[in-house]
Formats: sequence, structure tokens, C-alpha cells
Amino acid sequence: MTITIIGSGRVGASVALNCALRELDDILLLDIVKGLPQGEALDINNQLSERGIDCKVSGSNNYEDMKGSDFVVVVAGVGRKPGMTRMDLLKTNADIIKDVSGKVKSYAADAISVMVTNPLDPLTYLLLKVTGAAKNRVMGMGGMLDLSRFKYFIHNATKVSNDSIQAMVISEHGENMLPLIRYSTLSGIPLNKFVTEQQVSEIFENTKGVAAQVIALKGATTHAPGNAVATMIESVIKNKRSIIPVSTLLEGEYGAENVCIGVPAIIGSQGVEKIIELPLDNFEQAMFSKGVDSVKEALSTLTL
Ligand code: NAI
Repeated sequence: MTITIIGSGRVGASVALNCALRELDDILLLDIVKGLPQGEALDINNQLSERGIDCKVSGSNNYEDMKGSDFVVVVAGVGRKPGMTRMDLLKTNADIIKDVSGKVKSYAADAISVMVTNPLDPLTYLLLKVTGAAKNRVMGMGGMLDLSRFKYFIHNATKVSNDSIQAMVISEHGENMLPLIRYSTLSGIPLNKFVTEQQVSEIFENTKGVAAQVIALKGATTHAPGNAVATMIESVIKNKRSIIPVSTLLEGEYGAENVCIGVPAIIGSQGVEKIIELPLDNFEQAMFSKGVDSVKEALSTLTL
């Protein structure tokens, strides 16, 4: 089995390292920049040898090398600069993703694919449409990362172990992301038993804004996204059937059609095995619908 990672920049390299440290599979890093994937592979292999991990990481500039891959992670494209939203990347990255999706179709049509490039939800849809893959075999990583950020702020506010925190973030991976306070618990006990209204609104806003803060401080987010992708792939490879928020095609669920957006789903050997529909209150439904509208508006500007 092989996990191919298309795009070997900051996030691509982190995905490779996180997958290798979990011993998920052999890994191929691809990029158009000569030397970059080879250099990342060498560096990671040097770490793995000391850790006693035998996954093989290789680097290439030749798409043909991904032939027959079982997993493809798409993380090619530009990242946002301080002050930009994810949607500002749409035009540039859609052109790259159209090209990359054609390569996925040619060389690894049967793979399970994970989109990472932003804006995440429209580009997950683009990958799905260009490859023509079954909808369960294409998913976008956004909510899993938003979830780890949400947990971080819950932990900071409550000082309860990260181990005891279960949380959920749905909707657009962008301006309309929706941390679900009502569906978040500390070992099954509702979050609002531990925090004040004021803390709830701080946790909510911090979760939405922290990526921009990291980008302003260090130029890009890398470690948390790499871990989030590895968690999704691990659930598939080990058929764990974890419930993970992923961007996936909705066909009526949550009142939305023909759009990819973040919802909780069971992730197992078949990819997105079942979308979990949660009852939303008026505020949550309104936020979710705003997310759907935003993604649909972006899609309306793309030629598919
Ligand atoms: P980066 O600039 O460090 O790396 C991107 C890489 O893509 C570069 O090495 C570039 O040469 C490569 N590339 C461009 N066109 C390519 C092609 N046609 N084929 C193969 N490789 C190609 O950027 P970084 O920081 O790694 O971010 C990548 C993307 O991931 C951005 O769009 C960023 O916004 C997104 N991202 C998404 C997250 C999420 O939660 N979904 C989290 C973090 C970043």
C-alpha cells in the first residue's frame, strides 16, 4: 500500500511525517519543485531510522510514480498570507487542483483521496467531480483540524485533561465554521456545565480565528493539519470507524444538496461510510446554511 502526498511543502511534509510516525504505510511525496520531495523524504527517513520505524518515504517529481496508490492526499497550492481569507485562494488553487485531480484520475482512480488545499470545501467538490470517484472515496480535511483547535481552547478554559474532551465542528472550513458547543462534552458531561456564557463565546471565536493568528506569527499552519490528515487516514486503514468531521458531498442531509461541506461521518475502510445528521437549533442551522451558501457561491465561479 502507498500513501501519495501531492504537494511537498510545509503541510505536505507534516502529513508525511505524521503518517510515518503512526506507521500507517509507505509514503510517496510528489511536487513540481525539483529536489523538494526528495529532500523531505530523506530528512524524514533519517528520523524514522532512529525511531525504529520501517515505513519507506520517497520523493518524486513524476506523477507516474503514484500509479496504484491506495491513498492520495492533495495539498498542492498556495497558502494564505496574513489578512487573507481561505476563499481568497480560490482562483489560483482551483487551477492547480483541476490539473492535479486529472492526474489522480489517470494514475490512482481507485484511491481514497483526502483534499487539504484551501478553500477546502469547493476544492473537495472539484476533486470529486474531476476524478468521477464514488462520493465515499473523496473527503476534505478541515473539520478535523478545527476540532483539534476547539479542543485546545476547551482545555484552556476548563483545565480538564485533553483526554476527557469530545467536541465537534461542522460547516465550512472557513469564515462560517461552526464549533458545536451543544454537542461538546467533558467525558459525556455537557461543556456548558464547566464554562460561563462569556467563556463559550471566547472559545467559539478563538477556534474560528486561531489559524489566522498562527499564520500571522509563523507564516503557515503545519503540525496540527499534518496530524489531522493522519487521523483520518488511520481511521480508514485500521477500519476504526471513528466519527470525524469531514467535508463530503451532501445529497439532502442537513437540508443541502450538491455541495461538499463539513459534517460528522463514520470513517472506515470504505472512506466516508455514513454521514451523521445532528438536529441543529435555529442559530446552528442559520450558520450552517451560511456556510453552504458561501461554498455554493464559490462553486458557481468555477468551470467544472
Ligand atoms: P506550501 O507553499 O508550503 O506548499 C505547497 C506546495 O505545493 C509547494 O511545494 C508547491 O511547489 C506545490 N505545488 C504547487 N502546484 C503543484 C502541482 N501542480 N503538483 C504538485 N505540487 C504542486 O503551502 P502549505 O503551507 O503546505 O499549504 C498548502 C495548502 O494547504 C494551502 O492551500 C493551504 O491553505 C492549505 N491548508 C489547508 C489546511 C486545512 O485544514 N485544510 C490547513 C493548512 C493548510
